[in-house]
Amino acid sequence: MDLNSPRGTADIFGEELGYRNFIEGTAKKLFSLFNYQEIKTPAFEHTEVFSRGIGENTDIVQKEMYTFEDKKGRSLTLRPEGTASVVRAIIEHKLYSGRLPLKVYYNGNMFRYERPQKGRMREFHQLGVEAVGVSNPAIDAEVIWLANQLFGEIGFKDLTLLVNSIGCHKCRKDFIKKFKAYIEPKKDKLCRDCKNRFSNNPLRIFDCKKKSCVNVISNSPKIYNYLCKDCREHIEKVIAYLKNLNINYEIDYNLVRGFDYYTKTIFEVISRQIKSAQNALGGGGRYDHLIGQFGGPDMPAIGFAIGVDRTAMLMKQLGIKPRGRGKKKKVYLIAMDESYYSFLLEVAKFLRNIFICEINFSIKSVGSELKWAEKNNFDFAIIIGEQEVKDSKITVKDIRAFKQYEFNWLTEKDNLMEFLKGK
Ligand code: HAM
Repeated sequence: MDLNSPRGTADIFGEELGYRNFIEGTAKKLFSLFNYQEIKTPAFEHTEVFSRGIGENTDIVQKEMYTFEDKKGRSLTLRPEGTASVVRAIIEHKLYSGRLPLKVYYNGNMFRYERPQKGRMREFHQLGVEAVGVSNPAIDAEVIWLANQLFGEIGFKDLTLLVNSIGCHKCRKDFIKKFKAYIEPKKDKLCRDCKNRFSNNPLRIFDCKKKSCVNVISNSPKIYNYLCKDCREHIEKVIAYLKNLNINYEIDYNLVRGFDYYTKTIFEVISRQIKSAQNALGGGGRYDHLIGQFGGPDMPAIGFAIGVDRTAMLMKQLGIKPRGRGKKKKVYLIAMDESYYSFLLEVAKFLRNIFICEINFSIKSVGSELKWAEKNNFDFAIIIGEQEVKDSKITVKDIRAFKQYEFNWLTEKDNLMEFLKGK
């Protein structure tokens, strides 16, 4: 019997959790400054939400989904990403009927049956935003700015923002014809996957990291140079706004993304300090037809998601530490006898309004308790013994200064609080 966590999943605790909580806290603060509201959707959906939303011919739908039948024979899938689920929820609850853009953010675990390796998990965590109902290129710039600023606030300095446009259905269709005509005579140089992509999803060949495919692609026509007037004007405005905002970017003519729903602007934030194919910390783009395709109104939208696991991994690699929001003082309350717990609990209830308090639940010697408190970074110990209970007094030991102070519990509660705060 294998009772370890399944391959590609992880238990997250201790120091690692500190990184995750910091990333989430930073994101939530920033998302709310950009006026996004939180949405939570189920961890699984009817399979069609993803197969139709992400696209039948994508790697995710073809190979990577955790799909199962429930007891009534319905096909369900663990969410491999957030966008399709959020769009489904927006349509189901007609959330688009108020002022637009509708701006939501989400935070949750996602599941993809991929070969696990550094930075690639089968269960991973994303933080993402979706802004629905506006086609103005200024919102593309605002969404990219948000992604960029999020990584900046986490503490990264050397990430690269890649931007491209993959056009609309019309100019993309025309481009694919030209692209296929270019690839056709070189088709036998492609890897097996890309040979399939050639007929099913040719733009994905741009994404292949195999050397032979990279060579084929290097001189191929790029979609950016074949955009229709509307798509070209759109991306040019996005880029002008990014310049205006002083956001560094690179146009990556080979950037394509693994979802069929994208139109026009797409982007990724990558780290060149990660020497593997899993170097994207986040990515997103515009998807102007997904909502219509799902049976909602034909409404444009744009969003992005960051990978929390990869972001935490790179923070550690680069020595970026989670920054606390003012560390709370820690107090260890020690009862010297069973009969003193009611006094101790009363003191703990009062101090926990402000301080982190830990209680000893088995009676040991004061010496060993103080040693433990010092080792575990407590600032103060409060010892409740016979004298304390008799005189209603509190004895506080400043653990690092080796000093001791006394306060009357009935008359000096506020002094005690001020003393603990002020040290
Ligand atoms: P994505 O690029 O597939 O986009 O995922 C976003 C981020 O999730 C990636 O950049 C990566 O950091 C992380 N990620 C993806 N797969 C894994 C994995 N197997 N293990 C660890 N981390 C992973 C989306 O999912 C789109 N829904 C983003 C979006 C939102 N587009 C528009 N709106």
